[in-house]
Order: sequence, then structure tokens, then C-alpha cells
Amino acid sequence: MSRTLGIIGAGAVGQTVARLAIAGGWNVVLSNSRGPRSLTDLVTELGPKARAATVAEAAIAGDLVVAAVPLIAHAQLPKRELAGKIVIDTMNYTVERDGHLPELDSNELTSSGMTQRHLADSRVVKAFNNITTDHLAALPRPKDVADRNALPIAGDDTEAKKEAGALLSDLGFDAVDVGDLGQSWRFGPNTALYALVYAGEEMPEGLYGPEVLQWFLGTPGGPVPAGQVARLAAEAVRGRADVFFDD
Ligand SMILES: NC(=O)c1ccc[n+]([C@@H]2O[C@H](COP(=O)([O-])OP(=O)(O)OC[C@H]3O[C@@H](n4cnc5c(N)ncnc54)[C@H](OP(=O)(O)O)[C@@H]3O)[C@@H](O)[C@H]2O)c1
Repeated sequence: MSRTLGIIGAGAVGQTVARLAIAGGWNVVLSNSRGPRSLTDLVTELGPKARAATVAEAAIAGDLVVAAVPLIAHAQLPKRELAGKIVIDTMNYTVERDGHLPELDSNELTSSGMTQRHLADSRVVKAFNNITTDHLAALPRPKDVADRNALPIAGDDTEAKKEAGALLSDLGFDAVDVGDLGQSWRFGPNTALYALVYAGEEMPEGLYGPEVLQWFLGTPGGPVPAGQVARLAAEAVRGRADVFFDD
């Protein structure tokens, strides 16, 4: 029988994960801040394996639940309905959107550690945060291909990471366990595992500022196997959490 993925946040990430999950045989229950009626067109387009619900209903319905909301909204994730659940945390700290969060600015906590603190009775696994939705949509590969792409995951609970890894595999990716949530910065913004690594092309020399973004948004996405993810995670150097890309 198909399993069900609850999805809280039906923007770029929530929708991309929903499409991959449906392709991988899962049912999805999508939710957002405005309520299920605002998702009618989306679930019609996604077909019979998708339905829209309230946030609380999506949390209850999910065998696993994806949190794909702005980080600042993590405090509204429903603790009671998510108790006992595995919550896949896709969120990144973005000062422009979330404002300054001193515990993150000081590197005292990771953003996923903050989410786990809020969801004390859930098992949080960080995943999908280090890849753009265009590349996430472009890079799934079947289970048996040699050049399958990999995504890093982190979490405090081994069994939860195993289940998250199985979900990623159904969606078309290998998972590389980078450690507990305290290590999740190793694939956060401002690291070598963040976004650019999935471009599939070397960045041309001489690009600056907006030119880098323009080039990056046109890239097709390319192979990042498990060994490369593991190596880059191991070599990562922690930078400032409030900066996306250090020079
Ligand atoms: N975009 C990317 O390529 C990318 C890649 C990796 C990770 N991320 C991270 O993933 C998260 C989601 O990013 P996104 O680009 O998908 O954002 P987005 O397109 O802006 O979508 C955000 C979604 O969250 C919902 N939402 C906001 N507050 C909520 C609340 N309190 N309760 C329930 N739903 C709420 C919004 O619903 P309404 O529209 O109804 O308000 C919307 O559906 C962010 O933390 C981001 O940093 C993004």
C-alpha cells in the first residue's frame, strides 16, 4: 500500500517534493498558511494521489511529514499533531526573510536544532535544503543506476534517518548521513555542498554578483554522487550562518 507524505508549505519546495513523491509511488497531503481551498488547482493538477488539507490534517495524515515553510514559521509547526512523527526539515535561515535570530548568528544552534527544540516530541531530519527546486526536479535517477545523485541528511535519531533515506530513494536520490542535527551546518548555506555543487557545470571565470546568479539559474544540474557529498561534508568549514555565500 502507498505511504503518505504530509507536506506543510506548498511553495516551490513543497510542490517539487510532492511531484517527486507522487512519481515515487507516495500519496501526498499538501497544506499551507491560507488553507486547502487555495490549493485546489494544484491538487487537481497533481492528480488522484494528491489532496489538500489544513496544516494539522497534513501532519496527522503523513507517515512522514515535510516542513517546507520559511524558517521563521517553524514555531507554528503543530507540535501535538507532529508528536511521534519524522519531520523532514527543508528550511534554511535567510536573514532577509526570517530576521536575525541570535542563536543562529552565534552558531550556538543550527536551524534544524531550533526546529527540533520546537518539535521536542518529533524526530527531525534535515534534507532537501541544499539544492534548488529546479535541480531537485532535474536530478532524480532510478535506484539501480550507477551515477545516482546524492543528498546529505542529518538527524539525531538513527531510525528516523533510515526512513528519511528510504523516502529520498523513492524520490530518486541516494542519502548521505552527515551526522546529528548539530552537524547539519555542513550542508547549509555558505558551504561547498550548498546549491552550486549541483549546477553540473563549472562556473565561468570572471562572473560577479548578479552574473553568478544568472549563470546558476540557467544551469542544467549535474551529477553529485554519494562519495562527493561525503567528502565535501567532511571537509566543510563553518562560516557565518547569516551569510548565504561568503566571498
Ligand atoms: N526555493 C528553493 O529552491 C529552496 C531550496 C531548498 C530549501 N529551501 C527552503 O525551504 C523552505 C521553503 O522554501 P520555498 O522556496 O518553498 O518557499 P515558498 O515558495 O515561499 O513557500 C512557502 C510555503 O510555506 C507556506 N507557509 C508559510 N508560513 C506558513 C505557516 N505558518 N504554516 C503553514 N504554511 C506556511 C506558504 O503558504 P502560503 O503561500 O499560504 O502563505 C507557502 O506555501 C524555506 O525555508 C527555504 O529556505 C528553498
